[in-house]
Amino acid sequence: MSEETFDLRHQPKDRAYAQLHAHLLNVLGGIDDEIAGMATMSALIHHAFRFLWTGFYRVAEPNLLRVGPYQGTVGCLDIAFGRGVCGTAAAERRTIVVPDVAKFTGHIACDARAKSEIVVPVFNATGGLIAVLDVDSERRGTFDQNDANGLERIVRWFAGEGRS
Ligand code: SME
Repeated sequence: MSEETFDLRHQPKDRAYAQLHAHLLNVLGGIDDEIAGMATMSALIHHAFRFLWTGFYRVAEPNLLRVGPYQGTVGCLDIAFGRGVCGTAAAERRTIVVPDVAKFTGHIACDARAKSEIVVPVFNATGGLIAVLDVDSERRGTFDQNDANGLERIVRWFAGEGRS
């Protein structure tokens, strides 16, 4: 399979995410493997937008997130539910957009360059939380509702949406 790397930074976000989503569904066609899905999504999202860190923290124990497939510098290994942005998103089962990480009490700085981030919960087909998707940016205010919508749509693949 030949693979092109998209650069979607200069497009309106809704169009960028629509293209990325279509491409992901195509690349992951016929695949039924969570780790393969996480690895492929991390790579495609990360390089399309040139983010600082893009990856998954998996629910490893009832109240513990453990790092999964990602792109970027070394991530923290374990994050308890309720800790940091990832642990808060997991505990509350909702997307959290942080425009300035310095203003989020308890933010875990794995990479000092991170200035803003978004964390999206990932559910399986029965509504169980299996992971969170964490995306970090070197710039403040990178993420908004378009990113939330786009990334939430992408991770619905884990619930079976759009699978062939
Ligand atoms: N920013 C996250 C920690 C994970 S790393 O940045 C990769 C948080 O506060 O949850």
